[in-house]
Amino acid sequence: MKVLFIGGTGNISTVCVELAVARGHEVTLLNRGKRSGFMPGTKQIVADINDPNAAAAAIGNQHWDVVADFITFTPEQMEQRINLFRGRTGQFIFISSASAYKRPVTDYLVTESTPLANPYWDYSRNKIACEERLLRALREESFPMTIVRPSWTYGPTVIPLAVTSFGKYFTGLDRMRRGKPMIVPGDGSSLWAMTHNTDFAKGFVGLFGHPHANGQAFHITSDEVLSWDQIYRIVADAAGVRELKLVHIATDFITACLPDMLPGLTGDKACSVVMDNSKIKRFVPDFVCTTKLREGAAKSIAWYDADPARQIIDHDANAAWDKLIAAYERGLDSARKEFGR
Ligand SMILES: NC(=O)c1ccc[n+]([C@@H]2O[C@H](COP(=O)([O-])OP(=O)(O)OC[C@H]3O[C@@H](n4cnc5c(N)ncnc54)[C@H](OP(=O)(O)O)[C@@H]3O)[C@@H](O)[C@H]2O)c1
Repeated sequence: MKVLFIGGTGNISTVCVELAVARGHEVTLLNRGKRSGFMPGTKQIVADINDPNAAAAAIGNQHWDVVADFITFTPEQMEQRINLFRGRTGQFIFISSASAYKRPVTDYLVTESTPLANPYWDYSRNKIACEERLLRALREESFPMTIVRPSWTYGPTVIPLAVTSFGKYFTGLDRMRRGKPMIVPGDGSSLWAMTHNTDFAKGFVGLFGHPHANGQAFHITSDEVLSWDQIYRIVADAAGVRELKLVHIATDFITACLPDMLPGLTGDKACSVVMDNSKIKRFVPDFVCTTKLREGAAKSIAWYDADPARQIIDHDANAAWDKLIAAYERGLDSARKEFGR
């Protein structure tokens, strides 16, 4: 198949490109050419997809069996994508987000029919609006579309922890290695499934040209369901940390002090969710996740350890976490005294 990736050099998309090439698809990447990682065996179109004229000129009259769009975040961008690819693709795959599923959760088990509503996170509401625009295009003009909702999907550049510095993931790793306390939201028992990008790719590429995927939505996650405490311990173990110090702090307390964390915690990672992956397994029978967190975390840690230039610390985040822990512990001490403990 002739496949166009919008993006293609990112955390999730790179490995999807690699698998698509390995499976013999003719792959083109459309991005601004700012990152390394351009894959041999692919063609490249350099353009800013959000510049409608530049994107239209770059696309020209070409037709793709599949367009996989990793970087649409707003309904306005979706409108532009529909205009750009109308009549030019057999399947438009929109990368949405599992954070679009209803928060607060009303059922621990999430299926593709779980309602979409997230009052806490603009990002998720915008993804929902994109999905709605795309569904309207399906109904009104038979625009061929498929929706994929990744949950947290990590590759070598990501150290997955609930309280972390996004983009500066080494901060958490360094912190636990220095014996500093790590913040875990809630009591550490809420459930989450971390998915390795290479596993996600198997489900994702399996949907290309799928005769029954038109109009369908899927999430694609691992079935390795873990508590946050387990996740922190697995990462620490892979990092060679002997004594991991975890501080459990109620999400309400964290977000009262650091409101920027509310969307990503209350609206996502602090919710106990188990994803039911039966739909993607039914559509793509060879989809199976084979990378356990222990192995995936070890790969990420090795990636950071291999090059000091990658080891960027977010000092502001560290200072904010230290301040939060100190405030929490003062409050706890004072409460203990009040209760004579
Ligand atoms: N990772 C997760 O856990 C997770 C969970 C849920 C949903 N998602 C969704 O997954 C998608 C991100 O995928 P990813 O991780 O592979 O991407 P990513 O790491 O954010 O990489 C972005 C890609 O898009 C290109 N790009 C960025 N802006 C562009 C523009 N204006 N025009 C053309 N190309 C542009 C980048 O290359 P250049 O910079 O060279 O242009 C790069 O190839 C998002 O839609 C996100 O909402 C991710």
